[in-house]
Amino acid sequence: MEDTHQEFRDNVKKIYHGLVAMLSLIGIVVCFLIYIVIDPEFSAFRESDTIKDYTVINEDENWDTIENGIHIRTGLKDGVGLMETVNNCTNCHSAKLVTQNRMDATRWATTIDWMQETQNLWDLGPNEEIIIKYLVTNYPVQKKGRRAALENIEWYELEN
Ligand code: HEC
Repeated sequence: MEDTHQEFRDNVKKIYHGLVAMLSLIGIVVCFLIYIVIDPEFSAFRESDTIKDYTVINEDENWDTIENGIHIRTGLKDGVGLMETVNNCTNCHSAKLVTQNRMDATRWATTIDWMQETQNLWDLGPNEEIIIKYLVTNYPVQKKGRRAALENIEWYELEN
């Protein structure tokens, strides 16, 4: 009687230990699955290369290359105020939109005001004057000028 009782208790212990081991295993697997769902690329096990990429961009010596008087990345002409213009005017739209518009200083100031009021352009501070000067100097209003004088005109003889 004592023996079977002891045997029974041993069996219960075995089953209990087996269950605990199985549950732990399931727990580990579930944790692992959750981890995969949250972070499919196992970033904790890899060296992060995002930071590296970022520094590469900023250390890229070609980022602000100027060749033959042209800032390659944006196509803007080199000149005083170039970088202020690049840094403030090419973030939202291409530099082409800027340079295809030939304006005088007053109209530039109005355009900048308009962008600040309606397009979330930030306060340019002292750069505004530098940028406007750059634009007026390097992209002046194109003078339409007089049309060329007419030549070789055959006039009608006016009859009375
Ligand atoms: C915060 C974003 C943003 C920045 C920065 C920005 N702009 Fe704009 N700009 C816009 C938007 C948006 C438009 C409208 C584009 C469109 O109509 O498709 C626009 C339009 C323009 C136009 C055309 C205006 C017209 O009448 O059609 C010019 C010229 C211009 N921007 C010049 C500049 C200059 C110069 C700077 C630097 C001082 C600048 N932008 C910086 C958002 C910006």
